[in-house]
Amino acid sequence: MVNIPIRFRLFLRYLCLLSSLSLVFTSQAISIREASISDLQLAFKQNRLTSRQLTKFYLGEIRRLNPVLRAIIEVNPDALNQADRADRERKAEKHVLLSSLHGIPVLLKDSIATKDKQNTTAGSFALLGSVVARDAGVVARLRRAGAVILGKANLNEWSGFRSLTQPNGWSARGGQGRNPYVLSADPCGSSGGSAIAVAANMVAVSLGTETDGSILCPASVNSAVGIKPTVGLSSRAGVIPITPRQDTVGPICRTVSDAVDVLDAIVGYDPNDAKATREASKYLPQGGYRQFLKVHGLHGKRLGIVRHPFFNFTNKPSQALAFTKHFATLRQAGAVLVDNLKIKNIDVILNFNLSGEGTAVLAEFKIALDAYLEELVSSPVRSLADVIAFNQKNSKLEMTNQVDQSILLASEFTNGIGSAEKAALSNLGKLTREGFEKLMMRYELDAVMTPGFDFTPVLAIGGFPGISVPAGYDTEGVPFGICFGGLQGSEPKLIEIGYGFEQATKIREPPSFRP
Ligand SMILES: *[C@@H]1O[C@H](CO)[C@@H](O)[C@H](O)[C@H]1NC(C)=O
Ligand SMILES: *[C@@H]1O[C@H](CO)[C@@H](O)[C@H](O)[C@H]1NC(C)=O
Ligand SMILES: *[C@@H]1O[C@H](CO)[C@@H](O)[C@H](O)[C@H]1NC(C)=O
Repeated sequence: MVNIPIRFRLFLRYLCLLSSLSLVFTSQAISIREASISDLQLAFKQNRLTSRQLTKFYLGEIRRLNPVLRAIIEVNPDALNQADRADRERKAEKHVLLSSLHGIPVLLKDSIATKDKQNTTAGSFALLGSVVARDAGVVARLRRAGAVILGKANLNEWSGFRSLTQPNGWSARGGQGRNPYVLSADPCGSSGGSAIAVAANMVAVSLGTETDGSILCPASVNSAVGIKPTVGLSSRAGVIPITPRQDTVGPICRTVSDAVDVLDAIVGYDPNDAKATREASKYLPQGGYRQFLKVHGLHGKRLGIVRHPFFNFTNKPSQALAFTKHFATLRQAGAVLVDNLKIKNIDVILNFNLSGEGTAVLAEFKIALDAYLEELVSSPVRSLADVIAFNQKNSKLEMTNQVDQSILLASEFTNGIGSAEKAALSNLGKLTREGFEKLMMRYELDAVMTPGFDFTPVLAIGGFPGISVPAGYDTEGVPFGICFGGLQGSEPKLIEIGYGFEQATKIREPPSFRP
């Protein structure tokens, strides 16, 4: 448990006071808080709400909550202008069917580039003032859908690739992000700010990115819904990378329905990430993903249970109880639980060092980051070596919390894809084929279901999709999720399963800011 300084405790009291005031005096605040995109679109349509009012509400909540939660690095100075434009368009085009994200404020992880007044820095001062060539592919799609870009979310600096010991939710620019349920609890990362902000109603919906766990983990511990799409389903162009082999951009939201609306808006071919997005476009369903929000989506689904090492509830009585109930609920809803399965070499797959994931990713990161930095229109740093030198020179600025840069250094030490990296990559392929893929096919599973976020390496190394849905709270009040992972392109099934589970359990509650 982190010790909470007294100044912070006083602030907490002030925070609780404020939130009870706003609940008493402004009915507007109640209706916006916890509203889904569908609720908000209905309110727009009935002239009960404008995009400007909605955006102002979130900007106010950011001013109020961000000094403690540190979920956001920057707000977009043009957010209200974009909201006004959406309001004008809605008035002018009464009979045109607008996108479900039209006029909806969206928060972007700070690794996702915007060509506007905002900075894109992965939380590092090294990239402050850098100028990107264009919006990230997913941002271009959000703008075309009429979304309001509300700001940039805090994250684990460099998406967790700075140091083996960097704290979750921390970046030099953003400070220490906090879990809004239990402020001393781990907010996880690396898309921590995105999850914290939606959980605490500082924005309607958000985008995160995942290389290994960075969407599914913060979604799980902040009681949010995260979708980690199949690699290539959403464009990674203009996203500060770790490795194109594993990186993917996906939604973090309060509900499965919201996450599906965001997913629909961001997927598809992008010439700036041509190979991966072309290959994955075969998975895109005609008519989008909303058709899979079926109340009876669990019916007939075959869900695999791999007991070792995922269902170990030693010292976790709340999880043990919750998952016993969830199994019963899933069966009642018509799912078939295929129990006591094994994934070959699972202990190797879960160990970054043994699987080869560490070796591969360290070398790939240097190549991908150097390429990103070279492509910038202007930038204080042009290579990983420059970033490391910047951190050394500005240690006062960057080394808050004594955060070292061990991963950056280890990556700089690599030298392309040599024999060790090739062997590692080949091993990752073998582990996936003989492990997860074989299990899925042999038992004709629709998904493997696990508590929390421990499953993410299995999904990461194969480019597989996953969804995390709120599944309970432990004795301290810290949330935990349930993760459903499937084969590439299985988003339709994962959405049916995730939505079915969410509707059958309705576990999410807004956060209470416990110390
Ligand atoms: C982006 O960074 C510059 C400093 O380089 C700062 O002046 C500006 O306010 C930042 N933009 C936003 C939207 O905070
Ligand atoms: C279960 O977890 C506990 C504590 O987290 C650990 O000590 C134990 O070895 C684990 N048991 C198995 C069978 O993996
Ligand atoms: C992997 O290796 C690093 C560096 O030797 C070490 O610090 C870390 O604990 C190892 N991780 C695992 C999961 O074994």
